Amino acid sequence: MAYLSGKTAIVTGAAQGLGRAFAERLADEGAAVAICDIRPDVVAVGESIAARGGGVLSGVFNIARRAACEGFVADTAARFGGIDILINNAAVWRSTPVTDPWEKALEDFDAVIDVNVRAVMMMSRLVAPHMIVRGGGDIVNISTDYVLPKRREGVNAPDTDLYNASKWALNGLTDAGAQALAPHNIRVNALAMGPTDTEMLRALFKPGGKLAHLGGPDGPPAEILATFMDPADIAQLLVDLLKDGRTGENIGVWAGYPIELGPRKRWDVRMRERADFTGQPLRDFGPPPWTDAPEPVEHLAVGKPTNA
Ligand SMILES: NC(=O)c1ccc[n+]([C@@H]2O[C@H](COP(=O)([O-])OP(=O)(O)OC[C@H]3O[C@@H](n4cnc5c(N)ncnc54)[C@H](O)[C@@H]3O)[C@@H](O)[C@H]2O)c1
Repeated sequence: MAYLSGKTAIVTGAAQGLGRAFAERLADEGAAVAICDIRPDVVAVGESIAARGGGVLSGVFNIARRAACEGFVADTAARFGGIDILINNAAVWRSTPVTDPWEKALEDFDAVIDVNVRAVMMMSRLVAPHMIVRGGGDIVNISTDYVLPKRREGVNAPDTDLYNASKWALNGLTDAGAQALAPHNIRVNALAMGPTDTEMLRALFKPGGKLAHLGGPDGPPAEILATFMDPADIAQLLVDLLKDGRTGENIGVWAGYPIELGPRKRWDVRMRERADFTGQPLRDFGPPPWTDAPEPVEHLAVGKPTNA
């Protein structure tokens, strides 16, 4: 039996790029997938997954809209009988220099934060009751290596403050969500990766893009493309994470380094890493703020055949 047979996964922003790779991989592992995007071509992605034999529900809507999220989660649960996995992948990137006109800054703030943060909050809260009924589940927030100790140039660039802020906000949702939902056997983690070959990244190198001077109509030149990670490899890491059972972590995925989960980290170690991001000397955060050190919870819901 396939690893995720009998499970249902929601993937947001699945019309292309990483979201599509996640959806296809989860379907290949046996999960029924509910995929959504603001782009209508998510329907074609759903059709291609269905043609390979997987259960699919496709939705075309703006993930920032409350009623649409509520409806999609309800439809998914009704169609497949429950929800086990949520991949909060949909996001927007914008160039937002602090010197931008005021009206543009406010419009950018709403656009970036509504999709990259508010939708993650809405979807996570909406699926949690369904996961509790199932006895557990996994929420994976798709972040960026901007929130991790720096291993390359171009991270946290001065003109990406709103995108950066949105991904740093995910740290709060991931940390608090992991603690709050651990008693229900629901794990909350983030994949925080570097440059990956998707349209979001390629567009930067096309005419009108921030790095257009380095690229052309087709995007980046071959020597730059060769430095990008493959979405399929990140999708493999996602499956590894679901099987692993840890919770509350940002899994760092740096281009040019092995794409692997790495050792599990305790809360205080994760906090140290985030402090290190600033380049300041490490502070001693002391022991975790609870008496029972947060060992990874047992992985019950996902990963075992439903008839186990
Ligand atoms: N590609 C990279 O190098 C990279 C690096 C770090 C993090 N990420 C993150 O990975 C995730 C996927 O990015 P990607 O590179 O595949 O980008 P992408 O732009 O190719 O895909 C993002 C998808 O989200 C969808 N989306 C955007 N706004 C939406 C909305 N309001 N409602 C519904 N869907 C919406 C888009 O239509 C698109 O299909 C994002 O969270 C991104 O921040 C990407």
